[in-house]
Amino acid sequence: MRFVRELTSWLSGGADPDSFPYRPVTAEFHRTGKHFVGKGLLALLDETRAHVAARATGAGPVDAGPVRLLRDFLDVALDKWDGRYDYRSYLALRLLGLPCGDGDGDGDGGGGGGAMAERAAARQGRDRLLVHLVADALAFELAAAAGTTELLPEQRPGPALVAKRHRLGVRAVSPALSRLGLTVDDSQPAAAAAALHALAAADRSAAEERALRLSMLPVYLSHDEYLFIRVLQAYECVFAGLADELRATIDAIDAGRAVAAAERVGYARDQLASAAPLFSLLASMQPESFRTFRAYTEGASAIQSRSYKLMESLCRTPEGSRLDSAAYRSVPELRDRVRAGGPSVDAALRAAVRDGRLAGADRALVELRMREFAATVLHWRRTHHRLAVRMLGERPGTGYTEGTPYLAEVRAIPVFTAVAADPDPAAPSEPSGGCPE
Ligand code: HEM
Repeated sequence: MRFVRELTSWLSGGADPDSFPYRPVTAEFHRTGKHFVGKGLLALLDETRAHVAARATGAGPVDAGPVRLLRDFLDVALDKWDGRYDYRSYLALRLLGLPCGDGDGDGDGGGGGGAMAERAAARQGRDRLLVHLVADALAFELAAAAGTTELLPEQRPGPALVAKRHRLGVRAVSPALSRLGLTVDDSQPAAAAAALHALAAADRSAAEERALRLSMLPVYLSHDEYLFIRVLQAYECVFAGLADELRATIDAIDAGRAVAAAERVGYARDQLASAAPLFSLLASMQPESFRTFRAYTEGASAIQSRSYKLMESLCRTPEGSRLDSAAYRSVPELRDRVRAGGPSVDAALRAAVRDGRLAGADRALVELRMREFAATVLHWRRTHHRLAVRMLGERPGTGYTEGTPYLAEVRAIPVFTAVAADPDPAAPSEPSGGCPE
């Protein structure tokens, strides 16, 4: 076995993190699916982890980058072995540089920053990651259709479904692409997907390319799990962006900068609305494939998404019953912070109005953008619920809720209380063709 040879020779040859044999190891994970990886490999990886830990704490200069990468990879690869498999490890959020909790250092309210360059860089970074993730999902569809990959060989989709994925994937990243100054001709779905893949591949650094490869460790061998993972990662990228924008909205309201506050929350609304084709893309997943691989994803649920809860709690402080529910018990460190009195847009608005810092046209503008944002979040929740009904039916969720009845219950939770959402979301936030399709 190649991976055993390479791993043992790496371990006995100095165990330099920079030359860790990622390729044969991930190939073995891909050959069986993470759920079925043999104990021999997992034990070797466990040994590797001990080496990495010893190296990181030992004397002598250590290059933190390769050590961190290897540690993060092992964290993802050994989650089932350790019995701590969850949504964040399933999606390898840390490898992608996305917030996943457990002291990942974001979210302490510094997002406003003020510097326009900083804001532009953060937005650009998220646009690039979104494009890379979706482009990679489409590249896999292209390769599978062309018969040039053996990865996840079960339950391949037919040509019509693949063409639909190309079309919806390209649409999902079009706004981000144009903000990056890039375009693809979308008249031919397959050609557009190939062009997107080429653009994204040229845009990635070697480190980003490696992180992208390592962040794909499906639990089983169903083709559609690739799409599932990439769409969830893409939404995580969107939620992390929304949280950044909402933090900056709070800072701007506090500082009496109404136009900046409206711009931030308006940008957040546009991000969520323009990501809507991601749900249509995921709705193209074959329900029987989903039901096949989800047998091995028990314990990993987006109810553990820290960015989503951060976004929700930055809008307004959730009620006690919500904080006590599985939703917030799944993100304990965030729950503690909210309980300790974290800031929110809702509270910032009320305080600014009460103190006479926000009034007249300025107040009307901020409130309008907040209402639009709230309507888009409510629309997201309704679409998510419909998609879950289609894919799951009556089955319980992998996050140990009763499944879609839970989603039906939480979909109407008010986003803000200081302003009400418009009853009907603005038309552009509807995914074209409806979702699920
Ligand atoms: C096949 C598609 C999907 C199905 C069947 C599905 C199903 C579910 C279910 C049943 C829950 C309740 C928790 C549980 O027991 O697991 C849930 C929660 C959640 N899902 Fe999904 N989901 C899907 C796609 C997505 C996507 C693409 C996202 C985007 C990241 C997402 C984000 C969330 C979030 C944030 C929650 C927590 C909601 C809350 O606690 O208020 N889901 N999902």
